[in-house]
Amino acid sequence: MTTTSDQSVSPTSTSAAVTAGAHATEIARKGLSNQRGGSATVDQQRAATVIGAALEGIRAAIRDHKVTYEEFDAFKQWLIAVSDTGEWPLFLDVYLEFEVEKVAAATQQGSVGTILGPFWLDGQAQLDSPATLPMRDDEPGTPMILAGQVTATDGTPLAGAKVDIWHTDSDGWYSGFAAKPPAGNLRGVVRCDDQGRFEIHTRKPAPYTIPLDGPTGQMTQAAGWSPWRPAHIHLLVTAPGHRTLTSQLFFTGDPYLGNDVASADKPELTLDPQPTGNASPGFEGEVRSDRDFVLEPE
Ligand code: DHB
Ligand code: FE
Repeated sequence: MTTTSDQSVSPTSTSAAVTAGAHATEIARKGLSNQRGGSATVDQQRAATVIGAALEGIRAAIRDHKVTYEEFDAFKQWLIAVSDTGEWPLFLDVYLEFEVEKVAAATQQGSVGTILGPFWLDGQAQLDSPATLPMRDDEPGTPMILAGQVTATDGTPLAGAKVDIWHTDSDGWYSGFAAKPPAGNLRGVVRCDDQGRFEIHTRKPAPYTIPLDGPTGQMTQAAGWSPWRPAHIHLLVTAPGHRTLTSQLFFTGDPYLGNDVASADKPELTLDPQPTGNASPGFEGEVRSDRDFVLEPE
């Protein structure tokens, strides 16, 4: 299958899927050591229970739908392609991470979270609030302010809180994974003030399709599913002694809300940015959203 889309075709000769996939694999190999445990030890009984249930799910699909040898061989080829393109982190975060997040959320207090996804990067600009994210001089898109306060579940403002934020540019490209935006574009770790308050100046992101030229996108299109994610801002909100909140924020009126390929959107996570009245020549008027975050003590 050959597919092209403005969202997925990289300007280099390497396909977008291979570029994004390989880098996401490299990041995933490190196990996000400073955010989540990279490896779990699993006892034999749990391995047998969970792995057994997963395999039985696949065997049931084979039995119930009378899967042929041709289809089984196509499945093998597809799995090999997911490895060859480095798309395992993309595939797993789109089609499975939301279920893991639901399990984690069942025992989490504080603000609603959602999936991390494959595009977080370590080592980004450390900024003090109020902060403007690193961006090009002529960074396109609607200027946007995201502001709020980080508190503990008992209401105490968290002075040491940080908001690690990353999102696409207004064309739907992530820096570090697509050729267009420069390294570090629209990514940063913002330190809150002594009242846990933050104010972040950025550009509104755009809806994003998973890369369409790799096996994850091809499978998605073969099944006739939408490859789109609604526009979103990723966040990791941290504070010493508190459980990290992994979340995303979406936008009212986005045509892909409720039909997110990664099933990560939640009604509690929708922003409705309002005009501030500020305008720079050549840009749409600036908008602002206020959003507070509540972290659970560790
Ligand atoms: C994918 C992309 C995202 O922006 C995201 O948040 C989750 C998954 C992906 O392409 O796999
Ligand atoms: Fe994303």
